[in-house]
Amino acid sequence: MSKNHQKVVLVGDGAVGSAYAFSLMHQNLAEELVIVDVIKERTEGDALDLEDAQAFTSPKRVYAGDYSDAKDADLVVITAGAPQKPGETRLDLVNKNLKILSSIVKPIVDSGFDGIFLLAANPVDILTYATWKFSGFPKNKVIGSGTSLDTSRLRVALGKKLDLDPRSIEAYILGEHGDTEFAAYDEATIGSKSLLEIAADKGITKEDLLQIEDETRNKAYEIINRKGATYYGVATSLMRITRAILRDENAVLPVGAALDGEYGLDDVFIGTPAIINASGLAGVVEINLSDDEKAKMAASAETLKQVTKDGLA
Ligand code: NAD
Ligand code: LAC
Repeated sequence: MSKNHQKVVLVGDGAVGSAYAFSLMHQNLAEELVIVDVIKERTEGDALDLEDAQAFTSPKRVYAGDYSDAKDADLVVITAGAPQKPGETRLDLVNKNLKILSSIVKPIVDSGFDGIFLLAANPVDILTYATWKFSGFPKNKVIGSGTSLDTSRLRVALGKKLDLDPRSIEAYILGEHGDTEFAAYDEATIGSKSLLEIAADKGITKEDLLQIEDETRNKAYEIINRKGATYYGVATSLMRITRAILRDENAVLPVGAALDGEYGLDDVFIGTPAIINASGLAGVVEINLSDDEKAKMAASAETLKQVTKDGLA
């Protein structure tokens, strides 16, 4: 299904956006990359800087543009929005970033854009829901980064603890990309064997695993306290989702997906594994959660619904 010429429009050329653009330059993906930001000069500078990488990577047309460039784009990636300051939660950003988002989605839709929206700006699950509302697009064409980054953080931490390649660990962080997220340990596997069993065999206790879950949940705060922002991890998550879309991969990835009865929930975009291809979200992979985990998923969804309701009121 993939056509010869693919185009990505990136909205938001800050720390996350520029890291994503750099990451995309190193992939043989998307022949055209357009960068849009309220700070036009920065996007012009970034386009000039990024094109310097081309002789050593893969050729692309990269330039500073505007929303009308979304007309024939395959994918619009939105990273525009205020980041957390030390001490702020992601949910604290909701009002400011919903306002910014509403000024972006409308002109993109007005351009005639008919591709897929991929969201990263925070609080990402709520902004993904709002993009669906503001755009009038079908739910499968709006995807959030959800718990993609968090799942990577969990796998990296477990990989260190178990002395295994994180790519061999099938464990997911589910729920809000934020303080109510949780690790679905009960169903996690490594080489088809229960992660809990493998951990126990190595003398790793449930408390150790809960500490890893907690550190995963709080890792963004640790990074923000030290360097003011996080961007390499999320940029790579976004690049992975981009590849699944542009290459029509049918890949199962952790994302922020619209639920339609899965986990007994609906009317919410939330972190779960899902099938991603050129049509966007091809299906949610509903993990058969334990009762305790079901309750955590429901509580996380409830938090998101409440903040969404207040934010969009
Ligand atoms: P940043 O301040 O470095 O960049 C934000 C950019 O958005 C700036 O360049 C700004 O000019 C631009 N912008 C603001 N209003 C705009 C508008 N109306 N139209 C176009 N561009 C506009 O921030 P950052 O560190 O890049 O973070 C961006 C967002 O990504 C934040 O909300 C942050 O919390 C979020 N984030 C999400 C994840 C995730 O896993 N989903 C990870 C890291 C950061
Ligand atoms: C993260 C951002 C801040 O790194 O959401 O998790």
